[in-house]
Amino acid sequence: MRPGLQTRRRRPEARGGSLRTGRSIAGASAPLECRHDLDANVSILSSRLRGGVVTPVRILVHGASGRMGQALLRLARARSDLEVVAAVAGSAPRQRVVDGVPHFAASELGGVPTFDVAVDFSLPDGLRPVLAVCERRGAAFVSGTTGLSDDQCEALDTAATRIPLVWASNFSLGVAVLQDLVRRAAGLLPGWDCDIVESHHTRKVDAPSGTALTLGEAAAEQGAHPRYASLRAGDIVGEHLVQFTTRGERIELIHRAGDRDIFAAGALHVAQRLAGRAPRRYQVADLLAATEAPLP
Ligand SMILES: NC(=O)c1ccc[n+]([C@@H]2O[C@H](COP(=O)([O-])OP(=O)(O)OC[C@H]3O[C@@H](n4cnc5c(N)ncnc54)[C@H](OP(=O)(O)O)[C@@H]3O)[C@@H](O)[C@H]2O)c1
Repeated sequence: MRPGLQTRRRRPEARGGSLRTGRSIAGASAPLECRHDLDANVSILSSRLRGGVVTPVRILVHGASGRMGQALLRLARARSDLEVVAAVAGSAPRQRVVDGVPHFAASELGGVPTFDVAVDFSLPDGLRPVLAVCERRGAAFVSGTTGLSDDQCEALDTAATRIPLVWASNFSLGVAVLQDLVRRAAGLLPGWDCDIVESHHTRKVDAPSGTALTLGEAAAEQGAHPRYASLRAGDIVGEHLVQFTTRGERIELIHRAGDRDIFAAGALHVAQRLAGRAPRRYQVADLLAATEAPLP
């Protein structure tokens, strides 16, 4: 993608994947679900007890040599409740073991050691092989890879009937809140123009960004018809402006990510809470919710 401004209209409903129907953050803490969450947490905790000791969740990092992969490896090292047991990149690793973590090429996925959750921030071509390994091994899957085709989104839905799975275009808490605000603003402002402007670094390959599309889907749920503009410049980590305009007035909602660690930290948090859950597709807000009892 060349630097510059591209504008594009896109009907969000034409895109695959079930995130279109994302729940509000408030929905994640409904009282009726508390008992269910408690039961789920007790069963997950039991599954992590080995010899009376709670063991760390074993993580496979997929896309390990990339910007996000490197952030995941660094942040996971600092957590005692996670253990990275394998790091996988597209091409063959220069070093087989780094900081005690065995590294593999994507073509060697079949030989990785036992893991509880794969955390995938790679490129769309890498999705199916790592998803297939998770299904074969009954491991959970967390993915933030964007630019997926409709077929790849459908593969996620199918896999979610067999394993617990989260795919999200953005793992930051701030964007989860922005999504909720956009949905509410769109509902309160029928007939206003809705425009989403996203800015990213020049090496980002997909446009509009997955986050822009997710925000647009939240607005479209309330009857808005979002338009998209994409700017590629310098090393911008990620900015999303959602603008509602009518004659004489304008509302701007904006999120600026200053550091990609926020996405990596969110994905690791989600991975830790996803391991051992029942197969289905979960939303980030379900697992980030403050009301959910934290596991040791
Ligand atoms: N959801 C979120 O919150 C969020 C936040 C930031 C970024 N993202 C998304 O995360 C993805 C990665 O971003 P990035 O900036 O880290 O990209 P990047 O720096 O280009 O890294 C891509 C990684 O994927 C690996 N890879 C490429 N093809 C592969 C394949 N077929 N199988 C396995 N691994 C493969 C690469 O390995 P080689 O170098 O060996 O090819 C590299 O490790 C993008 O889709 C981006 O949009 C999502």
